[in-house]
Amino acid sequence: MNGGADAKMNMRLHTLPTALRVLFTCFLLTIGVGYLSALVYLFISDVDPHRKMGMGLVSGIAMKYHGSTGSTRLEAALGGSMSDRIGAEDKRAIVQWIRDGAMSAGFGRVKPIFDRSCVPCHSAASGLPIPSLATLEDVRKVAAADTGPSIGQLARVSHVHLFGISLIFLLTGAIFSLTSISSLLKGTLVATPFVAIWADIGSWWITRYEPVFATVVVVGGAFMGLALAVQILISLWEMWLGAQRIDRPGDVERGAPAAG
Ligand code: HEC
Repeated sequence: MNGGADAKMNMRLHTLPTALRVLFTCFLLTIGVGYLSALVYLFISDVDPHRKMGMGLVSGIAMKYHGSTGSTRLEAALGGSMSDRIGAEDKRAIVQWIRDGAMSAGFGRVKPIFDRSCVPCHSAASGLPIPSLATLEDVRKVAAADTGPSIGQLARVSHVHLFGISLIFLLTGAIFSLTSISSLLKGTLVATPFVAIWADIGSWWITRYEPVFATVVVVGGAFMGLALAVQILISLWEMWLGAQRIDRPGDVERGAPAAG
């Protein structure tokens, strides 16, 4: 396409000074490891707890940004992370009480269950940073319908992600743009993570209102990871391994337009 312009600009990864290639390599490897840790974190903090409640990845994300449809934080915890803290009989009694509207009238029946099974941890006295379940008022706070994160919370997570991630994409993309693959493919791969993160973060917001968009969150995240992985791998390859193949001057000029 614009092979002519590429041919004139002969700066390529494998021709860079060694120190710069070492620097780029360290950066790309660190980003790669960072991305993998992000995946591990995502799995432990989001995917696994929802899976324990019997939900798939998409419905887990839908619940995270939309709130649990028809369920409450208390029910979600009873069916999930807190399920082994309570017997089936007691669990049924509490769920029934929630369904009945979590009224003070029925609270006398379930209070002994909370006191016995939950309050040892869920009270101010325990010092744990978790909601107290000691009084009716406390319990009602987690027995109210879960409506997902607030606009303020979403705005906070969104801007932190957008600022931080765009700098990472800028740097990996800048390094990757010095590879000798076709400009069209390069342009596409440099833009992909940005489009993916817009789709991803945009869908956090839309999922708040429309849980179907949880799929876009997953697809956007996957595209972002793939594009980043491809950029990192091709850049590393050209810096250290692929160099011999394209080292002779003239090859790049002749190669680029054909590949484009
Ligand atoms: C051994 C201590 C312990 C006991 C007993 C316990 N919990 Fe928890 N609970 C925790 C911890 C720690 C967390 C936060 C981490 C997590 O979610 O796994 C938590 C989280 C929760 C949450 C989620 C709060 C949120 O932010 O949405 C709810 C609801 C909950 N527990 C309810 C209960 C109920 C109901 C019982 C009694 C049947 C109970 N817990 C018993 C330690 C305990």
